[in-house]
Amino acid sequence: MSAVDVSRTQVGIVGAGPAGLVLGHLLYLQGIESVILEGRDREYVEGRVRAGVLEQGTVDLLIEIGVGERLRREGLVHHGVELRFAGKGHRIPFDELTGGRGITIYGQQEVVKDLIAARIESGAPLLFGVEDVSPVGIESDSPLLRFRHEGQERELRCEVVAGCDGFHGVCRDAVPDGALRFRERVYPFAWLGILAEVEPSSDELIYCHHERGFALHSMRSPHLTRLYLQCEPDEAIESWTDERIWDELSARFASEGWSLKQGPIIEKGVTPMRSFVAEPMQYGRLFLAGDAVHIVPATGAKGLNLAVADVRVLADALARWFSRGDDSLLERYSEACLPRVWRAQHFAWWMTSMLHRMPDDRDGFMARLQLAQLEYVCSSRAAATSLAENYVALTDVPRATADQIV
Ligand code: FAD
Ligand code: PHB
Repeated sequence: MSAVDVSRTQVGIVGAGPAGLVLGHLLYLQGIESVILEGRDREYVEGRVRAGVLEQGTVDLLIEIGVGERLRREGLVHHGVELRFAGKGHRIPFDELTGGRGITIYGQQEVVKDLIAARIESGAPLLFGVEDVSPVGIESDSPLLRFRHEGQERELRCEVVAGCDGFHGVCRDAVPDGALRFRERVYPFAWLGILAEVEPSSDELIYCHHERGFALHSMRSPHLTRLYLQCEPDEAIESWTDERIWDELSARFASEGWSLKQGPIIEKGVTPMRSFVAEPMQYGRLFLAGDAVHIVPATGAKGLNLAVADVRVLADALARWFSRGDDSLLERYSEACLPRVWRAQHFAWWMTSMLHRMPDDRDGFMARLQLAQLEYVCSSRAAATSLAENYVALTDVPRATADQIV
């Protein structure tokens, strides 16, 4: 794609994850130019196994912007999840508790593939394998993205920079010291995740609390199971043979009359658990979105959904600014997103705290509180409804009407 002129654009987007790609597509549909710069190659980005749970608002948006064809065909719609503890399962029926709502299971890498295909078809620039991206002059009216591509030093003059470059990206660090406030919790555990070629052992997700540690049963298709188990934060993946993984998962999920189906493991990885928010989510002409500005532990299944919710707000605000010269929505971008970000932070922290084995719980006090909470959630309709409504529809963003934008 390097033949395309990428020396000047309206919005310079750093990162081709869900946030950058959805933003690029929303802008394209509004007739706003953007260039997306991605550090990795296409194969890597399309193969990265991460999220699986999409809220209805995310699904609706992907369909509305024309990238939901395969999602509609292949996505698995679920109407509940199981909470398993003390060897017994308890179903939380989302549809019954939330007026018919559910979630869709569709791998993040499939969402990313669909978005990349749409971007390429649109002809709008997306550069893979860029190096040393550096946002310059973000406090001025014409910021610049310096980078190297195919061995050449390049400069992209923008009107706005969108930092969609994930937690380890460079955009957040381009903000001067002291202008953002950071709040963070790092949990004393991580998740070891696997993808296995075997049919799922249950029709729905299972969140399992066990004295050996948390485990999660999820899936990607009728032939692919996604499983996670709580492990040490600095876990050496080499010490987990396939046999040890299956033994540990089977011990944690153990429940009378139920067994875990096993098959070849085709992917293994360790994910740290972290809560993080940088506030505000903007500085000058730089707007941060998705994991670049907030991280939630994966227990709440919110990260991708939040990333999409951010860029929806940002795209509408940019459309208003470019069409009318009115920056009032852009000015309020952080204010519009942060209440939802903190609601999701609370939910993800709450799920994480309720379900994981706490390593420093010497007298078992936390374990007793966790069981009391799990029993409450599974026996009180009010408590179950609270979990259900947070799980299915936390990141819904009301769509701005055309006259609010243009
Ligand atoms: P990313 O996906 O991280 O994308 C950022 C992009 O920027 C990447 O492509 C990266 O290569 C690129 N980049 C980084 N630095 C640079 C640079 N300097 N220059 C150029 N490009 C750069 N969320 C859910 O909603 N539901 C779930 O079920 C769920 N499960 C998860 C399970 C796991 C195991 C993990 C790890 C995460 C899960 N998440 C889930 C979270 C979700 O994956 C993230 O929140 C989501 O990827 C955020 O998207 P993003 O576009 O903001 O960031
Ligand atoms: C997944 O399928 O990868 C998944 C599901 C639920 C979560 C996290 C990840 O909470």
